[in-house]
Amino acid sequence: EEKRRQRLREAVELAARLFHHLLMNTEHGEEARDYLTRRGIQRSTMEEFQLGYAPDSYRFLLSFLKRRGFQEEELINAGLIAQRDTSANGVLSYYDRFRGRVMFPIHDSQGRVIAFGGRLLGEGRPKYLNSPETPLFHKGKFLFNLHRARKSIRKQNQAVLFEGYMDVIAAWQAGVTHGVATLGTALTDSQAQVIRRNAETAIICYDSDTAGQQAADRGLDVLKNRECIVKVAQMPHGMDPDDYIGRFGSQAFIDKVLAQALPFTAFKLETLKKNVDLKDEDERMQYLTQAVEVVAQLPRAIERDHYLRRLSEEFGISLDALKQEQRKAASKK
Ligand code: UTP
Ligand code: MN
Ligand code: MN
Ligand code: MN
Ligand code: MN
Repeated sequence: EEKRRQRLREAVELAARLFHHLLMNTEHGEEARDYLTRRGIQRSTMEEFQLGYAPDSYRFLLSFLKRRGFQEEELINAGLIAQRDTSANGVLSYYDRFRGRVMFPIHDSQGRVIAFGGRLLGEGRPKYLNSPETPLFHKGKFLFNLHRARKSIRKQNQAVLFEGYMDVIAAWQAGVTHGVATLGTALTDSQAQVIRRNAETAIICYDSDTAGQQAADRGLDVLKNRECIVKVAQMPHGMDPDDYIGRFGSQAFIDKVLAQALPFTAFKLETLKKNVDLKDEDERMQYLTQAVEVVAQLPRAIERDHYLRRLSEEFGISLDALKQEQRKAASKK
């Protein structure tokens, strides 16, 4: 069993080396190199992240790894090769899963390659393709870039959580070396545990669109449950961190986005506010009720007191009335 896993590791590692070589040193990789350059990725960053290129061919990796003595079965297991029933004659045919894509190797916490994400050079679907679950790769368990970022995360006692590979890499180039990303899925409890084991504070820096903000809201709860101090970074609507850095630069990203990330409760209250018209009396009352529910869930009495006082001042409602509502909200849970 251990021996089988070792074979898979070797196959994935060889693939990573091949893709990287193609990107950096060959004519096959030229278009991908130009693509990354246009997106502001420096050559040294391509080296650091071992970025690669998978050629637009059905049997490039397959032939290469077969020549190196790997069986189709193993390569399917490693998530590198897919299989198709060419049912006319009932013969199975095998082909490269990743074709015509920039390759982002995904490492485990010890820095061994276990999987890939691949991005198309142009438009098309799916924009990103990830390795399937394999004996080496369980999506909900890993964070992209953790092995590289861990030292920096510990030193700063803080992790920055991104949605995408390109966000992690753009941030890295901007000097933000404590960034990680989930692998195209929602943040899981086991990922939150990993973050908490390395730092006290997490800044969620997801895309500033509806999907991203909803994911941020869920991630917030997952991290809060693991007793992280959580903040949520804000960017102009429609932008992601990579866009922001490209447009406004590294310093603005550090000073305006990361440094001014909203604390947990402030973010929750802001989100609620976006859905109501505070000039309307009924909606204002509805907002207050929901705001008190958010406050009622806070674990510490001093925090609850602080936010109730702020609401009381902001809306000219007595603290007594808000406390009464809070008790009601707390008992409903
Ligand atoms: P985004 O669509 O926000 O990607 O998805 P992005 O990184 O900003 O893409 P660029 O800038 O156009 O290259 C965020 C992340 O979600 C996963 C990937 O991990 C991606 O980085 N994803 C996205 C997928 O797994 N599949 C997809 O089709 C799209
Ligand atoms: Mn290299
Ligand atoms: Mn997005
Ligand atoms: Mn994005
Ligand atoms: Mn992007």
